[in-house]
Amino acid sequence: MPFACVAALGFAALAGTVAIATMGVPAFTQPVGFRDTVGGPGSPLAKQVVDGMITNVILHIAWNDWKPWSVEMAPWWTEDFIYDFNYVGPWNFGPTKGLRAWYEGEHLHFNAAIPDSQWGNFIFAATNTTATSVTYGLARWSGEFAGVPPPKSHPKVVIRDLDFYVLEGKRISINWCLLDVVDMFEQVGYQVVPRGPLKSEGYRAPNAMDGSPAPFSSMFTQEDAARSEEVWQAALHDDYDVGTGEGKWWAENINWYGPGGVGTAHSRKDYVKHWLQPLRAAFSNLERSTDLVVCEGPYCGAHFYMWGTHTGEWMGEKPTGKRVPIRCGAHARIVDGKIVEGWLQVDIPRVFHAMGVDFYGRAREMALAQAAALESYSQAADQ
Ligand SMILES: *[C@@H]1O[C@H](CO)[C@@H](O)[C@H](O)[C@H]1NC(C)=O
Repeated sequence: MPFACVAALGFAALAGTVAIATMGVPAFTQPVGFRDTVGGPGSPLAKQVVDGMITNVILHIAWNDWKPWSVEMAPWWTEDFIYDFNYVGPWNFGPTKGLRAWYEGEHLHFNAAIPDSQWGNFIFAATNTTATSVTYGLARWSGEFAGVPPPKSHPKVVIRDLDFYVLEGKRISINWCLLDVVDMFEQVGYQVVPRGPLKSEGYRAPNAMDGSPAPFSSMFTQEDAARSEEVWQAALHDDYDVGTGEGKWWAENINWYGPGGVGTAHSRKDYVKHWLQPLRAAFSNLERSTDLVVCEGPYCGAHFYMWGTHTGEWMGEKPTGKRVPIRCGAHARIVDGKIVEGWLQVDIPRVFHAMGVDFYGRAREMALAQAAALESYSQAADQ
């Protein structure tokens, strides 16, 4: 359930065209060499396609009416595309195949729980065949999310969201999507995992004026992307495979927007101390399996699983000895051979599920206890 500001631009341009036509202004001829593509000048094919598709999602066109919705959406997807969302426990759907299964799976479930969410991409990197975006959403949490009720006030939440896409020609064949459930629950007072060691500063846009969303495609070459990818692959290898564990591809001073349960780091030292070291201490025989790496200009993303044996305490959970999948979506801004900013999401409910811990059940109990406490407080206040 992706997003975008660029999509809004496309819409404004369309409205402009209509206005000109109805005012009877003479036909406008495009200057030679100027192509106002969806996704912005110079954008690779996958960026254009995803941007086109996402316009529909952003505008919530016929979101709960299968027929018109499918007419809008079908052209962007292959027949049997895979949509693969977070682990959602009692909602009971895994990766779905095809438009109808997505509609009845994540799409209707999410939009009923968190209706009318407003999405803004801040990273949007692509090649001709792959794309990735990092997005925040703003909305009111209004219905049960995976069996967990919102507070009665239906509070506003900031949703950390990311997507990875694989295309076949002009259609999307795979969409991996993650959002930070731990962080969203924490925002309303459901502290399902221990509070992170670092103060969370949220999910922030890159500290660089190189596009919003970044990167602005025509500012960068394919050589820029190749240089970034070399560093990114080396960093993934060093951080998660058999490397130093010292985060040696990271600059000394960074902005790292870590997942709920960890927090925001401003130094390589804190990144290592509060993310890499606890991970390596808790899981033995880590093995990384990478689905997709995408780089454009200074920006890279990776969607991967690490499998590890749970032999040490992690996020408050005592070792279970189980082999668990740690699903991650990571992004980086790379300057002069070092990562200067990073964003990370981890599908913690999935990790907990593999440990035999009912993440959503625990959250639901907290939600019900919070609601009951508020209820008795307001009854006492009434008397
Ligand atoms: C994408 O395809 C176009 C047209 O074939 C080509 O000019 C461009 O270099 C390609 N871009 C990338 C990032 O591969």
